[in-house]
Amino acid sequence: MNKNIAIILGDGIGPEVTQQSIKVLDAIAEKFEHQFNYTYSLMGVVAIDKTGNPLPDETIATCLNSDAILFGTIGDPKYDNDPTSKVRPEQGLLRLRKTLQLFANIRPVTTYRSLHHLAPVKSTLLEDVDMLIFRELTGGIYFGDKHMNEDNTLASDECTYSKEEIERISKLAFQYAQKRRKKLTLVDKANVLETSRLWRKVVQDIAPSYPDVQVDFMYIDNAVMQLIINPKQFDVLLADNMFGDILSDEASVLSGSIGLLPSASIGNGSAMFEPVHGSYPQAAGKDIANPLGSILSVALMLDYFSMKEEAQVLRDAVDWTLTHLFVTKDIDPINFYFTSTIGDLISDYISGRISGDINKKNVELRKSTII
Ligand code: IPM
Ligand code: MG
Repeated sequence: MNKNIAIILGDGIGPEVTQQSIKVLDAIAEKFEHQFNYTYSLMGVVAIDKTGNPLPDETIATCLNSDAILFGTIGDPKYDNDPTSKVRPEQGLLRLRKTLQLFANIRPVTTYRSLHHLAPVKSTLLEDVDMLIFRELTGGIYFGDKHMNEDNTLASDECTYSKEEIERISKLAFQYAQKRRKKLTLVDKANVLETSRLWRKVVQDIAPSYPDVQVDFMYIDNAVMQLIINPKQFDVLLADNMFGDILSDEASVLSGSIGLLPSASIGNGSAMFEPVHGSYPQAAGKDIANPLGSILSVALMLDYFSMKEEAQVLRDAVDWTLTHLFVTKDIDPINFYFTSTIGDLISDYISGRISGDINKKNVELRKSTII
């Protein structure tokens, strides 16, 4: 198969983690005789520095002409610490999601036995944790009218949802639930918010079309607690833009590191794949960031291309590194491997250049030359 992939490296650790994903894509292409063509585009701080615009028109055009988009991360402290700045890198990402109508952001949360000790909850709670967070991505408080009065003493952000916006992501979430453990939990704040009440009504109205899916409703404050005290109760979680953002960062700690979490953003015609973690500017350029969030986002891209075997081979390679504790500094601060080494190991494993039972001592730091 021939696929055109738009690559947006972005800010902070975005370039170095995405580079590992490209190695992995190349290994998959070689093994399965596909051709992946990459077009590099700008977004975020790099785009502001070069063009004054966090999302240049050229980037939008490239994304629209691609089969999929692989995106790194966005953000920089120089903007975070200046609330008055009118141009911000995140505007690029939000505008891209909106322009491409990427309304469903899917964030799987899996746990790995070899990493149970890293999670701040008891290992016994982590066994069999496997959930899928569906976060609405193009509406709600993120995109409502924003207002600040002239003397900067009063501000507001409007949260709006239409029935159609809720319906399209809810249907998708139900369809995924049907293929999994058939349970869907809508997370909201329906005891306070009008938008949440609309979410409940829409979900209740469409539920009879999916009779095999068990639906329940949970307030966000309870849900964040349940995620910690009994995470395995969840299968598919559905939430609006803001609650989904918060839930997915919280859920990531169950896997051991936010660096492990991938995501897929699906729209009517386009799809974008990106790690859940942020730009982690303190680590940028140090070759220490965890590339697995990005690499596992590539697995979701392969699923999207209906390349089932390819996606499985990639996930097996990731499992292999985690089982042998070939991991980055976020997971093991003492015996860690560099970002680029993990990318080399995974792509070499996929290519068959490394056998499964290698001697760990032979994997030297920064090298993937296995003896
Ligand atoms: C995410 C991020 C973004 C969001 C930021 C960078 C705007 O936190 O993708 O989860 O809030 O959507
Ligand atoms: Mg977030």
